[in-house]
Amino acid sequence: MNPTQGKKKKIRLLFVCLGNICRSPAAEGIMSGIIEKNGLQEMIEVDSAGTSGWHEGDLPDERMRLHGEKRGYNLCSRSRKIHKEDLSDFDYILAMDENNFRTVRAMATSKEEADKIHLMTDYLVQFRKLHDHIPDPYYGEASGFELVLDLLEDACEGLLLSIKRDHLLI
Ligand code: 4NP
Repeated sequence: MNPTQGKKKKIRLLFVCLGNICRSPAAEGIMSGIIEKNGLQEMIEVDSAGTSGWHEGDLPDERMRLHGEKRGYNLCSRSRKIHKEDLSDFDYILAMDENNFRTVRAMATSKEEADKIHLMTDYLVQFRKLHDHIPDPYYGEASGFELVLDLLEDACEGLLLSIKRDHLLI
């Protein structure tokens, strides 16, 4: 390799919810598909975490996996709790609701880290202004899981557009 062409650092995205078994693994799976569809696997990488460690090591919730599967997503990440190094390691940290947002913001040790944290709904396009958080589906019905997927599919497309703009990829 030409020594002046150092390997470019990947842009790293971390999706965050409460349990890391419903919303954030779904976001991770959807965004992985979009990155692949756009041929950006060498430039962008994704992960997810929970603000709680209640489901540490678990696969996504079975209902989330089934609803995801119907749309072609194979949700197979393992739940983990967010830790303070994530705030320096990742470039974009996407919180599913205001509670997750506040918890992660409280972990930030600098303005640089705090500025990486965003609400996922800030990237909605079709559903813009209709939802200000990704509703927790855990204690709800099937329609809640479908809504999560609808919102995340929309917000992930908006997020990719925003990343492309930020990093001059378009
Ligand atoms: P998530 O959903 O934050 O989207 O993964 C939840 C999962 C588990 C619980 C709450 C929300 N729980 O209470 O165990």
